[in-house]
Parts: sequence; structure tokens; C-alpha cells
Amino acid sequence: MVEAVRGDGVVVTGAGAGIGAALARRFAAAGARVVVNDLDAGKAEAVAAEIGGIAVPGDASAMVADARDALGGTVDVYCANAGVPAGGSEAAGEQVWASAWDVNVMAHVRAAQELLPGWLERGRGRFVSTVSAAGLLTMIGAAPYSVTKHGAYAFAEWLSLTYRHRGIKVHAICPQGVRTDMLAGTGSAGDLVLAPTAIEPEDVADALFEGIEEDRFLILPHPEVAGYYQARAAAPDRWLMNMNHIQQKWEQAAAGGDPARVAQDGEWEDPPRELRSRPQDSQ
Ligand SMILES: NC(=O)c1ccc[n+]([C@@H]2O[C@H](COP(=O)([O-])OP(=O)(O)OC[C@H]3O[C@@H](n4cnc5c(N)ncnc54)[C@H](O)[C@@H]3O)[C@@H](O)[C@H]2O)c1
Repeated sequence: MVEAVRGDGVVVTGAGAGIGAALARRFAAAGARVVVNDLDAGKAEAVAAEIGGIAVPGDASAMVADARDALGGTVDVYCANAGVPAGGSEAAGEQVWASAWDVNVMAHVRAAQELLPGWLERGRGRFVSTVSAAGLLTMIGAAPYSVTKHGAYAFAEWLSLTYRHRGIKVHAICPQGVRTDMLAGTGSAGDLVLAPTAIEPEDVADALFEGIEEDRFLILPHPEVAGYYQARAAAPDRWLMNMNHIQQKWEQAAAGGDPARVAQDGEWEDPPRELRSRPQDSQ
């Protein structure tokens, strides 16, 4: 239980299912008043009814004013959680790229535009961004997702460094695989990279609440991601080589071939550190 959010007015976007629903349940259990947003009105209403919250269906990009009204005038915590998987390469269509920017980045920016003036006046506000480990690293087979999640991470980071001395708290949640409909839709790349270490949406909510208690920006529900992030920064070419090894495994598997037969490009680690499953392996 986190006293910091008791009685707070909380908005969670994309909360009709998956990680958002788990966040909404956890905030409600901690004594917050919760607005449950989702594009799917039926799902938003079902979760709101379950937790004693308020459903505000619609696009995450354009609901802050309605959510504020529903909460009696003040939003204390905003969880920018709604996201689109946006797979594909550079050749993904304009529509895929546009929707990824719109939901994964611009919805966060638009919410911040609405919320920051009031938060800065009161000297208090909390912005929670459900990014992804893809925002720190990358996701095989999903260029628009990887690029826009890097954007979401950059925006959360910028908000935090710009406003932390004015009472604004920001958290960036960066999980790898989480067992939701989105993970189920990621196909063979998700099966290869995400499924083996996938966790439950409730684990993500636990990690956020630990981070709120510790007043921490970076929330890593998969602790091993810290090691991958360090490895990427410390030795970019080695990291790219290992990721390319995974890419080749994925291509081989997709072509019905043997994923173990991949081209050798320097000294790669087998299994690549990025595919190992236990946290201690990343040390
Ligand atoms: N599942 C994973 O493996 C995983 C890993 C890392 C990060 N994430 C991120 O977590 C967030 C939630 O994903 P999830 O796995 O819970 O997905 P999910 O598919 O289970 O749920 C997403 C919900 O968001 C809603 N939604 C989609 N677009 C919306 C919009 N524009 N406005 C309002 N609601 C909208 C959907 O209707 C759905 O109910 C996303 O930002 C996703 O990128 C997921």
C-alpha cells in the first residue's frame, strides 16, 4: 500500500485490459479515485465497475478534460499507458508510423500540455509513462514501435529533469514481455524474444508501486534490462552484433530453417546475453 496516492485522482489510459487494468486495480486498492479510460467503452466500463472507478471511454489523446471533470476538477496522477504495437520495418505504411507516433508519443505530450499548468501551480503532480524495454533497447521486427517508444522514454526523461524541482514526479515503466493481448499479437518475434521471460500485468503494477515508494524514475519489472541497457551504452557494436544474431535466429525460424544456423559476425555470445532468461545472467 502506498500512502502517497491515497485519495488521489488517478487517470489510466488503455485501462480496459492488460497492464492498464492492472495499474487501475492497484491504484484503486491503494485508496485512489480512478478514471478508467479505453477506446473500447465496454472494457473501460467493466474495469471501472469492478474497482469502483469512473469510466471515461475514448481516445487517450483527447480525454484529460473529461477525466478532470469526472474527478471533480483535479488529476493528481496521469498514467500514459495506452499504446499500439506497430510492428514492421522501415517499409511499414504511413498509417502505421502515424498511429505509432500519435498514440505512443503525442498522446503523452498532449496530456502533459493539459496537466502541467495546474500541476506547476500546485507544486504537485505525477506522470507515469508505460514505455517498454523497447524504449531503452529495441524490438526485433518492429521499427515504428521501437522508434516511438524511444520517443516516449525521451519525453518522460525530459519532463522529469525539467520539473522535478517543482514537485513533479515522473516514472518510466520499461518492461519486456507482459502476458497481455498485445504480447499475444506480436507473432514469432514476440515468441522468440519476449515470451520466454514474460511476466504478469500485476508484476508491472507491483514494480511501479515499489518505484513510487522509492521515488524512482526508471521502473524495470524485468531487472535484467538494467544490464542490457548498460551493455548497449558501454559497447554499442557488440550489442548490435548480439541483437543481429537474434534477428538472424528470427529470420531462420520464420523461414522454417534451423535458428541455430546463423551467420557469424565477429565473436558473438551464444546464447546472446539479450536472450538469457535469468537476472543473474546479465551481471
Ligand atoms: N504486453 C507487453 O509485452 C508490453 C511490454 C512493454 C510495454 N508494453 C506497453 O504497455 C502498454 C499497455 O499494453 P498491454 O500489453 O497492456 O496491451 P493490451 O492490448 O492488453 O491493452 C491495451 C489497451 O489499450 C487500449 N487502447 C489502444 N489504443 C488506445 C487509445 N488510443 N486510447 C485509449 N485506449 C487505447 C486497447 O483497447 C486495450 O484495451 C502499451 O503502451 C504497450 O506498448 C506492453
